[in-house]
Amino acid sequence: MFLRKVAFPFRLEALNTRRSVFPRETMSTYSDLAAEIEAEILTAQDLAALDAVRVSALGKTGRVSGLLKTLGALPPEERKATGAAINAVRDQIQAALDARKDVLEAEHLSRRLQSERIDLSLPAAPRAKGGVHPTMQVMDEMVAIFAEMGFEVAEGPDIEDDFHNFTALNFPEKHPAREMHDTFFFNPDENGVRKLLRTHTSPVQIRSMIAGKPPFRLIVPGRVFRCDSDQTHTPMFHQIEGLVIDKTAHMGHLKWVFDTFLSRFFETDTVITQFRPHHFPFTEPSAEMDVRYSRNGAEIRIGDGDRWMEILGSGMVHPNVLKACGVDPDEYQGFAFGMGVDRLAMLKYGVPDLRDMFAADTRWLSHYGFSGFAAPNPASGLS
Ligand code: DAH
Repeated sequence: MFLRKVAFPFRLEALNTRRSVFPRETMSTYSDLAAEIEAEILTAQDLAALDAVRVSALGKTGRVSGLLKTLGALPPEERKATGAAINAVRDQIQAALDARKDVLEAEHLSRRLQSERIDLSLPAAPRAKGGVHPTMQVMDEMVAIFAEMGFEVAEGPDIEDDFHNFTALNFPEKHPAREMHDTFFFNPDENGVRKLLRTHTSPVQIRSMIAGKPPFRLIVPGRVFRCDSDQTHTPMFHQIEGLVIDKTAHMGHLKWVFDTFLSRFFETDTVITQFRPHHFPFTEPSAEMDVRYSRNGAEIRIGDGDRWMEILGSGMVHPNVLKACGVDPDEYQGFAFGMGVDRLAMLKYGVPDLRDMFAADTRWLSHYGFSGFAAPNPASGLS
């Protein structure tokens, strides 16, 4: 539509018969120029290119503006008609520019609409695979329950030395219990000292007591390592250790702590527990604690029933352990306990084989895993 021919407001022959500073072909030069610029306008592919054409045609030093400057040199009687002709060219080009601008802007908009189009009928992005591992979920649940009872969380290194893992815990030198733990030892260093992967979380009792001052009421969630592997053992597993040291803490407190913990953890009002005598070098007396359960096929119910299940080791902290940590056993006493987290996770969430827990299979994890947004806490719920 903007390509219509220039309608010159005068007759070409009339102009050509007059004497003029312009050569005879002046008027066709105007229309050639107009056609040339219009072709440039039509082929401009974007707004920047179109603007470059505008400047080169209508800008101060542009081609059409250049023509207007020549008007002054014309005889007065020709100026009016020639001026009108040049202005007509200018208007025509301006109209062509405007029209092309509209087209380019419309194209630009429709390209944007196309590229920014969102198909709301498409399904949302698939849910990420995996989830929070049941062991970690159970650790968090345990920490939440013990925190409610006033325990604080302590941590220690996975790579330990003989002193913290054995000696300070009252394991006698060369005592077979050191080997019973199926310890992973590192090669000895230049001084002949062997580091090891901690076999239990009990060394953190030692570290915490050496670093702090009594009273202590802490739990230690963590990884432990033993050279063992079958359906109920993996070379790496998890424990939670507990330590309560003050002037009066005794086994009765330990029983209350555990009855309370178990009823919260297994969400049941009836919890029946018993102590069974045992031996640990770091406690005296020592006991394992069992909890009543019933079994119906593969289903296990903790609480009542006619079977006992061993769930933790415990005892009164041995005076030698307190001494090794600079705590006076004549003034302070208390109890300690340790339990396997993975086994409790299996029990609570019905996982049949311990080894699957660490097979790193995402299908297993999306079946047994928990949402990362469902961190257990006493307010919103523990499981
Ligand atoms: N450390 C022991 C183990 O791994 C568990 C244990 C038993 C920890 C008695 C304790 C305790 O703190 O008092 O088998």
